[in-house]
Amino acid sequence: MIVLGIESSCDETAVAIVKDKKEILSSIVASQIDVHTEFGGVVPEVASRIHVENISYCIEQALQQAHCTMEDIDAVAVTKGPGLIGCLHVGVQAAKTLAFAYHKPLVPVHHLAGHIYANELVTDLKFPVLALVVSGGNSELVYMKDEISFEILGQTQDDAIGEAYDKVARVLHLGYPGGPKIDKLASEGKPVYALAKPKTQGKYDFSFSGLKSSVLQFVKRQERLNQSYDMADLAASFQETALNEIFDKVKAVLNDYKDIKHFVVGGGVSANSCLRKKIEELKLQYPDVIFTVPPMSCCTDNANMIAIAGQIAYESGRRAGEDLTADSGWEIQ
Ligand code: KG4
Repeated sequence: MIVLGIESSCDETAVAIVKDKKEILSSIVASQIDVHTEFGGVVPEVASRIHVENISYCIEQALQQAHCTMEDIDAVAVTKGPGLIGCLHVGVQAAKTLAFAYHKPLVPVHHLAGHIYANELVTDLKFPVLALVVSGGNSELVYMKDEISFEILGQTQDDAIGEAYDKVARVLHLGYPGGPKIDKLASEGKPVYALAKPKTQGKYDFSFSGLKSSVLQFVKRQERLNQSYDMADLAASFQETALNEIFDKVKAVLNDYKDIKHFVVGGGVSANSCLRKKIEELKLQYPDVIFTVPPMSCCTDNANMIAIAGQIAYESGRRAGEDLTADSGWEIQ
């Protein structure tokens, strides 16, 4: 089965053509990072306008690179939500146009399901699965008893972890997106500074807003007292505290849900080098669980993951009609 996937939920216009969930025939990502860097973060109105400019070209390029025409495509999958509403609309309209002009089935995909299914590129998922989704907009622990059921066990009570990385990077004047910059800087430092440890009510929930403020207060205090500090050590201290928050909750779930066979991670923060090291350590503690991380090229937003999740949703019978609309707060399904 050949699926054309479209992703436009935030600041990447992406189109991919994937065969049988495993073989990427083409993958185009038009990133808007350079434009948003000027503003220190994504400006929704600007992002949707750039999606409009890019979408047709990305579709053409994806077909050309895959040596396909629309006749070869079996289904069109698109991110319906969650995400920035104006941005989502662009992808949804493009997908509807293609599907109805070429008489192809149209499959709406949840963005987080896409991040989870990026792991199919590495190996088949074995259920029940525990998925950790860590991105600029989400931090969630999802239990999947089978391919199409998604139970949220825990989620952030305030900022997403990627958002915290980006905000801390702004405090340290590192630029946008901050995740990769903090990742690199932290590798040169040691977690020597004590920052506020996150507190949450739910056993598997996360919180990153207090930690982010703690970094800001630390910097302000040092400046007020005219005392220097080591930026790399501060980045390492933030990262260690944030990732400990994540891994404490992951361990709590793995200890409580003994039936979990496979742990997968997805989303932009899954590219983080320290997070990947911690997963290697976790593997040793849970030898009966399979651990998978997505390929580096499929951590941040892309359309491969939407095509793969689209095929799975298609096989489960999901279809959309001409009335398909984007939904910025769509619940995972
Ligand atoms: O999945 P993604 O492309 O978009 C959303 O769906 O949100 O994730 C983007 C986020 C940004 O916050 C970015 O700073 C973060 O992922 N990120 C990282 C790394 N690479 C990207 N965070 C930490 N370490 C990284 N290496």
